[in-house]
Amino acid sequence: MLSREQISFFKANGYLLLPGVMDLDLCRRVRDAMWHSLPASSGMCQDKASTHVGPFSDHLESADSLHTRMGYRWLNRHLGVTEDVVNLVYSETICGLAQQLLGGQLRQVISNGEPMGNRGPAWPGGPTDPAVGTAAARGVYYTLPYGDKPREPDACHTDGHPFQLGVVGLLDDSPKDGGAFKVWPASHRTLYPTFTLRYDQPRIPYYEHLPTAKGIVHSAEYLIEIERLNAEVDPVECWGRAGDIVFWHHRTAHMAGHNHTDVMRQAVLADFWTEDLDRFRTTDAQGDMWRDWSDEVQSAALEYSEAFALTQRLAI
Ligand SMILES: [Fe+2]
Repeated sequence: MLSREQISFFKANGYLLLPGVMDLDLCRRVRDAMWHSLPASSGMCQDKASTHVGPFSDHLESADSLHTRMGYRWLNRHLGVTEDVVNLVYSETICGLAQQLLGGQLRQVISNGEPMGNRGPAWPGGPTDPAVGTAAARGVYYTLPYGDKPREPDACHTDGHPFQLGVVGLLDDSPKDGGAFKVWPASHRTLYPTFTLRYDQPRIPYYEHLPTAKGIVHSAEYLIEIERLNAEVDPVECWGRAGDIVFWHHRTAHMAGHNHTDVMRQAVLADFWTEDLDRFRTTDAQGDMWRDWSDEVQSAALEYSEAFALTQRLAI
């Protein structure tokens, strides 16, 4: 169970690093399944790091929304609903921790159900809609080493689809600067009031003859705050060892990190929500942002020790 200090830190900063939570044997099995999903002719070998450097060669690229290989990103969403991934990231331990934060009744995930991306992109040429067909985890997401790709600035975003709590779990060791998930501390509290809806957001339909505006709509206040976060707030990088996880709040600004090491970033991404999400998602995003979370979260103060913040890589 989470301590009072862990809950306070999560409430204050919108993320919580938890080392050694996932089963290492299952991590290995999922890594093996990922590598076995590559075409036999790929030329990439799991145990030969020199073959891992991106970008994917032309013959290996795939825009398939269920198994994407583009540039430096390798996303397998078929694997998100396998029994091993469900047992790994929706384990009794992780569900217990999520339940402690969210309260209510967690939605039931299903092994071998419909994976995210099964219905194609959200609009022609658009991204996959993570809200559709996600019977369990989002999938297994890898970031290839960038090799000599020039460095680019970090840029954060929030996710548009409805859920309440996210988790990113490392399937293998991921060193610093190695493409791990990045979070902007406390951004959930400054971004939350810039939204109209609590766990969702308005969308503009896609029309072929009116192609300029499509997808999600952001308020002017949101765009200003994202700009401020990029300029003023140092992100926390969730690097670590196989089995480590990070919980993050739905409104926490984040990004997939850049991988400037020679180690492939291997992770599993999953969303948690309660059976009340449909009732909550379009309610007003003003007022107490914790009003539907557990009593423990609601009553927690936003206080924690400096020593604890250091374990969470937060400079204070
Ligand atoms: Fe995202």
